Amino acid sequence: MIGGGYVGLVSGACFAEFGTDVAIVETDPGRLAALREGRIPIYEPGLDKLVADNVAAGRLTFGDDIEKAVQGAEAIFIAVGTPTRRGDGHADLRYVYAAAEQIAKCMNDYAVVVTKSTVPVGTGRQVSDLIRRVRPDLDFDVASNPEFLREGNAIGDFMRPDRVIIGTDTTRPGGGERAREILRRLYRPLYLIEAPILFTGLETAELAKYAANSFLAMKVTFINEIADLCEKVGAEVHDIARGIGLDNRIGRKFLHPGPGFGGSCFPKDTLALVHIAQDAGSPMRLIETTVDINDTRKTRMADRVIAACGGSVSGLTIGILGLTFKPETDDMREASSIPILHRLAAAGASLRAFDPVGMVPARPLLPEATQYCTDPLDAAAGADALVVLTEWNEFRALSPSRLRDVMKGDVIVDLRNIWDPQAMRAHGLRYSSVGRP
Ligand code: UDX
Repeated sequence: MIGGGYVGLVSGACFAEFGTDVAIVETDPGRLAALREGRIPIYEPGLDKLVADNVAAGRLTFGDDIEKAVQGAEAIFIAVGTPTRRGDGHADLRYVYAAAEQIAKCMNDYAVVVTKSTVPVGTGRQVSDLIRRVRPDLDFDVASNPEFLREGNAIGDFMRPDRVIIGTDTTRPGGGERAREILRRLYRPLYLIEAPILFTGLETAELAKYAANSFLAMKVTFINEIADLCEKVGAEVHDIARGIGLDNRIGRKFLHPGPGFGGSCFPKDTLALVHIAQDAGSPMRLIETTVDINDTRKTRMADRVIAACGGSVSGLTIGILGLTFKPETDDMREASSIPILHRLAAAGASLRAFDPVGMVPARPLLPEATQYCTDPLDAAAGADALVVLTEWNEFRALSPSRLRDVMKGDVIVDLRNIWDPQAMRAHGLRYSSVGRP
């Protein structure tokens, strides 16, 4: 497994749990040292135990020697980062190609080289060409096996997936059957729970990942716009979500309105799909619009807070509950909190923020003057207004009367709809949420 980041670590630990011997190659010395000492550099429920168990069982090892890991391996996964390239918004494939080249130099026998990182359509074939150029003597296959892990639920998603997609080069003699056989063996425990495993061509698997994430991002954006409309016409967005979601063709999930989607996948993958489609001469206007709506939404959410405070937040203290892009993660990438807090600070507000695990990674990304609090009530203490940005469970149980007592003002803007409007209003709070009259 080349790369001990989020995807490499979760996939590596889970494959080891399936009974496979896994060597994770991590070249960042700090990260490697942490992993070797059993410290998991990311927050993912259950991962530390899974790693520890499999290290103890001798199935999972960490190192920086790619040659040692590659030699004798039947499957070699590339799970390195593919950040968005500055300037043109394309995925930066530098690390993928560097990994492929190193793998090629070290391989000593047949293996299937699998891209697990989310890569643009055509990358698998490029990886294949690159390896062939470096090692014309070698027999190998390439495959694409995109991950569909949700942060905070990654182990469950890996162990009990809705589906696994494996793309191989069907244009090669043998159609990549040898590669399929190895990957089928690797995923054997999933056959027992009857998880669908789809075998496709390389490009199909690569595009499927973008299609899945973009569809979900579009679904979230759709319900966000319905929520806005609900507010104008006096309708209730959760009843609509339930009303439409019970139709199996639509489905109930990903219809929760909020301050716009964030995270390491949706923003990056929607943008990448826009570029892939434009480059292929088949633009996807639905996704272009989704990206655009979501970007403006984040700014508009700050304006909503300003409006709730009577048109100005200058000189006001605003408490912020939740900073991460969603609960159960410390990930701040593309979190709505970033543009929202910057806009509120620029409008003259003092900010008091609390997040159960995200405050350390948040610090460099948020306005410098932000004060970090010890708990939710501390963030609310003395605040003129309180804003909910992430739906951490521990916020749900906060008592409205306690909030009322500790706050100076009475404005609550709940952008995740975690509280009951009637209960809040009954305690004299001026409560507004998303898509609820
Ligand atoms: C996502 C995909 O779900 C996963 O399959 C993929 O492999 C990686 O990207 P993740 O980024 O961890 O996972 O988060 P997810 O739970 O999908 O949420 C993404 C964003 O959408 C979050 O900001 C979340 O708050 C938002 N969201 C999600 C909503 O606003 N409403 C919803 O109903 C669902």
